[in-house]
Amino acid sequence: MNMQASKTARDLDSADPLQDFRKRFRIPHGPDGNESIYFCGNSLGLQSEEVSIAVQGELERWARLGVAGHFDGPLPWMPYHQFLRENLAWLAGARPGEVVAMNSLTVNLHLLMVSFYRPRGSRRKILIEKGAFPSDRHAVASQIAFHGMDPAEELVELEPGADGLIDEQAIESWLDEHGDQVALVLWPGVQYATGQAFDLKRIARAGRKAGSTVGFDLAHAAGNLPLGLHDSGADFAVWCSYKYLNAGPGSVAGAFVHERHADSPDLPRFAGWWGHDPDSRFRMGPEFVPASGADGWQLSNPPILAMAPLRASLEVFREAGMNRLREKSLKLTGYLAGLIRERLEKTIEILTPLDEKRRGCQLSLRFKGGQADGQALFRRLEAHGVVGDWREPDIIRIAPVPLYNSFADAEAFVARVEELSE
Ligand SMILES: Cc1ncc(COP(=O)(O)O)c(C=O)c1O
Repeated sequence: MNMQASKTARDLDSADPLQDFRKRFRIPHGPDGNESIYFCGNSLGLQSEEVSIAVQGELERWARLGVAGHFDGPLPWMPYHQFLRENLAWLAGARPGEVVAMNSLTVNLHLLMVSFYRPRGSRRKILIEKGAFPSDRHAVASQIAFHGMDPAEELVELEPGADGLIDEQAIESWLDEHGDQVALVLWPGVQYATGQAFDLKRIARAGRKAGSTVGFDLAHAAGNLPLGLHDSGADFAVWCSYKYLNAGPGSVAGAFVHERHADSPDLPRFAGWWGHDPDSRFRMGPEFVPASGADGWQLSNPPILAMAPLRASLEVFREAGMNRLREKSLKLTGYLAGLIRERLEKTIEILTPLDEKRRGCQLSLRFKGGQADGQALFRRLEAHGVVGDWREPDIIRIAPVPLYNSFADAEAFVARVEELSE
């Protein structure tokens, strides 16, 4: 099923200033031996040459240097997290001291809730969206229980409207009315099931105006949308790096702590030696003295083999430029949405809002023929080299990503659905 791209798709690809980046990525092959239509960067981004070289390089340094690798060479392991700081801050729209690469997303969420979910008196609730990613829901419910309270009472899940989406206006109105009971607003940058993108500044403003702390889960926003975390005023944010950031399965996550909390020794936190002030860490004293900024939340020495891919991948993002990536993403996802509406109107409904301000790369699709037919079609698409993902009960998520997907991919996807749904 190897199809020729139309002139329109070819013209769009040849006018794309980022077209050469695709050559640096390994595109998995489908069952027919050809490159797949890989639309799963919202789940696991692809491997770039740079990432492969970086990991090989660290294995080689370990073999050659042993423990001396902590100190030798241009990228010694001891201060390794600092080599990611500048690009991470750039990606997050943050000040360098506000970000750190560490742990995984849910671990960081827990660590930051230890500091920023501090229920007191009648201000005890956590506000999240209905249908939040299960791990986020488990994390907030278990934090409420950890404080000796009942999640059934203190966890509020804001319902979407009839279109399955939640307006920022609805969040503001709810907080205007009930905000005095809320201790933490935890919101996604992009909702994982619907693909809806949110105005982070507006949500942070509403939460803080209500007297609550505000945190963001940016799993589906980091590397997908330009971010302005510092200016948003949020207290904290967390994200993973294996999706749009292409740092590999289970790679090291990111965390943001607003600089107004940079030197707050009284904030409760679960501490570990890597969060200790680096100037006195190796005096090996018994007292914990937190490092300034986000670094103070680190626990352990950095896992270099999982940090190296992120370091290398952030360099690729820096080279491509977040604004250029966003510009292409808007065109690419817009092109795909246009083709779906034009050619697959009878088969597929798009759940993601098409307004550019309310979406990133991802489109969430529902098959009009019902759940069973939708799943069967999804399996046929998989067997024919289309890589997306199925989310229960009936959603297919596809995400053309601007670093390695093309307009020809978008067109080929639509052609495959046309053929396989007949
Ligand atoms: C929105 C969201 N939150 C949390 C997670 C959990 O991430 P991790 O397993 O890295 O902790 C994911 C994973 O896909 C996610 O999509």
